[in-house]
Formats: sequence, structure tokens, C-alpha cells
Amino acid sequence: MIHYGKQTITKDDITAMSEVLSSDLITTGPVTKEFEKEIANFSGARYCVAVSNGTVALHLASLALLKEGTKVLTTPNSFLATSNSILYVGAKPIFVDIAEDGNIDLDLCEEILQKDSSIKALYGVAFSGNMLNQKKLKYIKDKYNIIILEDNAHAIGAVYDGIQAGSCVNSDASIFSFHPVKHMTTGEGGAITTNSKELYEKLLILRNHGMVKTDKLKPWEYNMVTLGFNGRITDFQCALGLSQLKKLPDFIEKRVSIAKKYDAAFKDTVVRPLYLYNGKSSYHIYVVKVDFSKLKISKLDLYNSLRDKYSIALQIHYMPINKQPYYKELGYGDESTPNMDRYYEECFSLPMYPLLSDEEQEYVIKSLLEVLNG
Ligand SMILES: Cc1ncc(COP(=O)(O)O)c(C=O)c1O
Repeated sequence: MIHYGKQTITKDDITAMSEVLSSDLITTGPVTKEFEKEIANFSGARYCVAVSNGTVALHLASLALLKEGTKVLTTPNSFLATSNSILYVGAKPIFVDIAEDGNIDLDLCEEILQKDSSIKALYGVAFSGNMLNQKKLKYIKDKYNIIILEDNAHAIGAVYDGIQAGSCVNSDASIFSFHPVKHMTTGEGGAITTNSKELYEKLLILRNHGMVKTDKLKPWEYNMVTLGFNGRITDFQCALGLSQLKKLPDFIEKRVSIAKKYDAAFKDTVVRPLYLYNGKSSYHIYVVKVDFSKLKISKLDLYNSLRDKYSIALQIHYMPINKQPYYKELGYGDESTPNMDRYYEECFSLPMYPLLSDEEQEYVIKSLLEVLNG
């Protein structure tokens, strides 16, 4: 089966991890610190806190940034974790429709902010690896002085007009995920980057049960100053992360070359790429849209046919979060999101990962067009 995403683990990764596993200290320690330093260097942010996964990164960032009841503009087109993290801390997500590129519509956000000054935060997602429009983000940040978090789980390595994903030039914090389908992996893992020392220090405490140690305490003592969690990542995972980070530019280059091949193959067909290569996306996924209302085949039939007859597993990114049963129980689901609704009817993601061979790419293209053309 050809899946939509897959990790690339080679011998050097395994060696790096085994070295840490044979040492005395295997959980959060010096290798985690080194990994944090390198992620901060790579993304251009001052500080980085590595954690056990991207969801925990969002949770801890939300604990540090939001208060109970804070209203947060966010997108329905993401993995559940983005808006769940707002709910975890008793804050209130407000779902805003998406723009043509699948990202939250920042013009709509502005219209809403103009009308409602009680909204104090915006959580945007660099969907598919395509960063949020940084000019608009800066404009919103400067004009409305709200908290901004960039969910860059899809976008490590992306650059928008010289601004690196995770550098937090126009946001308070950014998060990454190192799940195996992402650009680089630590098995499970995540990180928060920020330029605020205060936020960084808060996050370190939240990652470790709210505990602090000071010189004034006896050596075995600690003070619990807030209700924290165990969000720690292990040193052997971070050894894998350091090894993967070295290869990240090559991984992204491979993804971009696949994107360009898909772009060219679907020209003048019914398959419309979500966007053509724009020099900005680091391509976690390659999303296309098809107007099934004009075809004999439905999206479900396409999905089943590719899986059963061609061993190709498409993926759908994403079901609208606000229409999930849990969110409906909370009163969501009736927002006006016509772009998201149409997008969900039409979208699916094609296999894209560094180990996808030229032959497999051609097989995906040929099979997809064959099934769509009946
Ligand atoms: C946009 C987005 N945010 C957050 C997450 C959560 O990351 P993790 O799976 O590492 O918890 C994901 C993971 O799929 C994601 O795609």
C-alpha cells in the first residue's frame, strides 16, 4: 500500500539513537537541550522547548498564552489538536472560514476583529506547509495587539518572504510536530518556539509538573508553583531529531520535486492542485481538489477504488473541526464557512514523502487520472 506519508529512517539515525540508549541518562537531558538549541537555530527563534508531541506543544502554549474564556479565532481546516488545545484551557475557539490556499482567511479575521474587540487571540495553521501570509499577520498583530500562535506542525523549513516558519517574527509562539508523517521525526515529539524569555521560562515549568528548584531550597526540595504536566521528551528521541534535522533540507527538496512533478502532471486535467509551487511551502502534504459534481465518480468511490484496486491510500485533510459531534454539542457547527464546506467536498491528499520513488509518483498520477476518467 502506498500511504500519503512515511518517515525516512536510515542507519545514521539508528546509530545516533542507540548511542543515547546505551548511556546512563535516557530521558530529558543534555541531548534534549542540544536539540532545542538546533531547532531554535534552524527556525530563527530565540527559544525552543521540546516536548512529547505536537498536541502537548499546543496545550502548554495555550496554558501559557490564554486565560479561561479568552476568545480565539481559529481554522476549521486543521487536525483536531489545534482547537482542542484552546478548549483544554477553558478558552473559546471561534471558527473562521478558509481562503483559497486552505489557510484561515486573514481578511475575514480582520473583519471580525474590527467588530468584536473582545477577541484576544488568533491560532492559525500553516496548512500543508504553506505559511500564513506574514504581511497580513503583522498588520493584524500591530493593529489589534492580540496573541498570535502559528501552528507550524506542517511547515518546518518553510520560508515566507525571508521569514522562516517558527521564527515567530509576527507571532508570540509557534509549534512543530515530529510525528512520523511530518518532515522529520522523533517517533512522537513536538516543540514550541518563541522569542519571549518569559514565555520560555513558563513553558519549561509547565512541561515539568509546575515544579521549580531554586538555590534557596534544600537540594532535594522543589516548589510547585502552578499546575503543570509531564510533557517531557526523551534524549534518545532528541538524538533521532538531531540526526533528522541534518537531513531536513534534503527531505524538503525531495518533497518540492514531487510537488513540481504533480503540478505539471495535472495541468489541463480535472485535478486542481490546492496551489502550484510558490517557493514558500515546505509541503507536508500535496492537496488537490476535484469537482466531483461534474464527474460520474464520487469522492468515496475514488477513495475505495484507489485503495482496493491500486493499493494507493489517499488521505483527507481535513474534516471541518467545527462539525465534529463533540464541537456540535458545544454549540458549534452552524458557522458560515462556505469555502471550507466546498473545499471538504473536493479535497484529498496524494502520497508525498522523500522515499516515494519516481516510478511510484508516476503510478499515482496514472492511476488517479485513470480512475477519474473512468
Ligand atoms: C496542524 C497540526 N497541529 C497539531 C498536530 C498535533 O501533533 P502531534 O500529532 O505531534 O500531537 C498535528 C498532527 O497531526 C497537526 O497536523
